[in-house]
Amino acid sequence: MAPMGKEEGRRRRIAAVTGASGAIGMAIARQLAAIPGHEVVLVCRNEDKAAGCVEAISRATGNPHVRYELADLARQASIQALAQRWKGPLDVLVNNAAIAPPLRMQTPEGIEMQFATNVLGYFWMIDAFIEHLRQGSAARIINVASYWAGGLDLGDLEFKKRPYNNDAAYRQSKQADRMLSIAFARRLQPLGITVNACHSGDVGSTLSNSLGFGGHQSADAGAETPVWLAVSEAGGQHTGKYFEHQREVSCAFARDPEAVEALYAACLSY
Ligand SMILES: NC(=O)c1ccc[n+]([C@@H]2O[C@H](COP(=O)([O-])OP(=O)(O)OC[C@H]3O[C@@H](n4cnc5c(N)ncnc54)[C@H](OP(=O)(O)O)[C@@H]3O)[C@@H](O)[C@H]2O)c1
Repeated sequence: MAPMGKEEGRRRRIAAVTGASGAIGMAIARQLAAIPGHEVVLVCRNEDKAAGCVEAISRATGNPHVRYELADLARQASIQALAQRWKGPLDVLVNNAAIAPPLRMQTPEGIEMQFATNVLGYFWMIDAFIEHLRQGSAARIINVASYWAGGLDLGDLEFKKRPYNNDAAYRQSKQADRMLSIAFARRLQPLGITVNACHSGDVGSTLSNSLGFGGHQSADAGAETPVWLAVSEAGGQHTGKYFEHQREVSCAFARDPEAVEALYAACLSY
């Protein structure tokens, strides 16, 4: 199916960035829009913010092919509705949206909010967009995770047994993002779709402030590794790997394939 438009006979490469109204997501979207031949879709939940970001990115880059789509990424039905109204291929999916509320919150479906947004949101986006990614050209999925990761409890993914602590829930969610990248990489390899995870950078943002730190890097610096994975030749040569500062780093969570599969199965059960 024909994509949104063609330039000089070559179709634009279409990239979706979730959480693109936030610090790092907006920088990722802007950097991608600045690369010739890209069409960038900001996936956001707040229409006013989304429209403002689209305008700012179009103005800064001169790229008219920047738009937004609305979705609540903590809710599967909202993601499925987005995938259903999406027309044509998707070449790059950057899962980036995340949250770390100080108090335990739940979605209307009763799922703990960090697990729903930071983990299931990534899972559901990949799952819902597989057909569009198949139509893409050597499609790539980049899951923005973190080096700040660990403590995943497969028996208590939603902090129902443990006392909720936003730092513990956040570290668990970022471990899960890295593990799910491995699980999806294996499943999507036959389709020619790569899946990698990365640390962004330490950037001052709503999220980092809610975790109690300010960040010493710019949002643009934080966007560099995800964008590199999305567009560079080297970034397309890997799948199921974890990256920091544009370098592959051995991931401790890859050493337990049974846990990776158990997490995948747990996410699928929602
Ligand atoms: N900041 C750091 O130092 C740091 C370090 C390592 C990794 N990371 C990772 O980088 C990514 C981006 O973080 P950030 O620091 O840029 O955070 P941020 O500025 O707080 O942005 C988070 C984004 O996620 C969106 N979002 C949250 N819940 C959503 C939902 N239910 N539906 C749709 N969108 C939702 C927010 O939308 P609203 O604007 O509507 O709230 C916002 O656009 C995260 O995956 C994080 O784990 C960050």
